[in-house]
Amino acid sequence: MDKFIIKGPVQLKGKINISGSKNAALPILFASILIDESVEIQNIPKLKDIDNAIKLLLHLGVKIKKGKSLIINANNLYNHYIFPKNLVKSIRASIWLISPILNRLGKIKISLPGGCSIGKRPIDLHIKYLKKLGAKIYIKNNNIYAYINKTFKGSHIIMEKSSVGATISIILAAIYAYKITIIDNAAKEPEIKDLANFLNTMGAKIKGAGTNQIIIKGVLKLKGGIYKIISDRIETGTFLIAAAISGGQILCQKTNPKNLDIVLKKLKYTGAEIKTGKNWCSLNMKNRKPKAVDIITGPYPDFPTDIQPQFTLLNLIALGKSKVTETIFENRFLYIHELIKMGANVFFKKNQVICKGVKKLYSAKIVATDLRASISLVLAGCIASGKTIINNINYIDRGYETIEKKLISLGANIKRIKNN
Ligand code: EPZ
Repeated sequence: MDKFIIKGPVQLKGKINISGSKNAALPILFASILIDESVEIQNIPKLKDIDNAIKLLLHLGVKIKKGKSLIINANNLYNHYIFPKNLVKSIRASIWLISPILNRLGKIKISLPGGCSIGKRPIDLHIKYLKKLGAKIYIKNNNIYAYINKTFKGSHIIMEKSSVGATISIILAAIYAYKITIIDNAAKEPEIKDLANFLNTMGAKIKGAGTNQIIIKGVLKLKGGIYKIISDRIETGTFLIAAAISGGQILCQKTNPKNLDIVLKKLKYTGAEIKTGKNWCSLNMKNRKPKAVDIITGPYPDFPTDIQPQFTLLNLIALGKSKVTETIFENRFLYIHELIKMGANVFFKKNQVICKGVKKLYSAKIVATDLRASISLVLAGCIASGKTIINNINYIDRGYETIEKKLISLGANIKRIKNN
């Protein structure tokens, strides 16, 4: 695993272009299996997770032409449905293969996607709701076996939890279903709206995506077309916080501030000057330290769990005390033990951490534990005094396009040591 050597403290300032959203691109890539004509998908970020999703599609016989955008043609799918375990386990998003492959091939055998350091990541809701739509599914020796007799059948699903992943699985199943599917208590994330916009561009009939009720009228066929993925709201929030914790200023371009309402509001409470436009947002901290601000994560439009580690870092160097409550994943504070090695003053209380802002952080040798946490450690290295070494940083390549290039353009002193 590669490592970063980061020298601090630096003030991060400048402007960056935000990449396409990883969590919009992944469901849209798997949705392209539903279409037997060419689709062109633009603004796909260059990330490890995207590369692994592409490998899964190629394994299926999907034709993919890489360039500025991806041209995908899933016309001639191989009629085999077994996937290499290592590839499936490399991304949790592989669970979204089930619905489109049942629609196209009628059966699939795929290994369980497995958990990760932030939590167990169960898939019980995916299975429960695909069964409600008519799939026969069982799990044996850590593999999922699923079959469908001709097509899915529309159903009224009231989700017991607004799961992003399960909402996506249902949409990808119901697209060709006989009659109508209604999803109540659906997840409302912007990435789900983007998936629905992509599918509607190709001829689907989906209404209400982005609200808690989604209605899908099954169609007979989808056609090819062109679609541009939305910008990454998590990356945008991450870079705004990078400027906020270093007293700097940043302009994030090619992004949509409307998808970050609560994060911008919380950053204003820290004392940051926030400005927004149609496709940009800026933050200016004017060399000041941020004020501590409580956050509680929750399903959209509440505070995004994927920005919790970055905002918690802000609270750990802010003026005053604050509380961070994590309601989505059961183990999303692992990274804080690394920040304590850098001088953070914090104590744990069930699914909360109480932060007491410190004057400064000190460099240390630390280890990344998951994607969003590792970026929080990198930002900590940028503001800590001395040389911080972060091991296991390949997590970052899964979710942030050319991260060190973007940070260096903002003034960071960061070097990647390859460890092949
Ligand atoms: C998606 O994960 C994102 N991943 C996550 O981003 C994000 O943190 C999460 O949504 C919440 O916004 C992708 O889009 C690829 P969920 P997902 O299903 O779909 C429980 C990142 O860093 N649950 O909304 O797995 C689950 O345990 C990643 O980019 C069940 O109980 O999230 C969790 O507590 C991290 N049973 C809660 O629901 C299920 O069958 C929310 O999970 C499914 C989920």
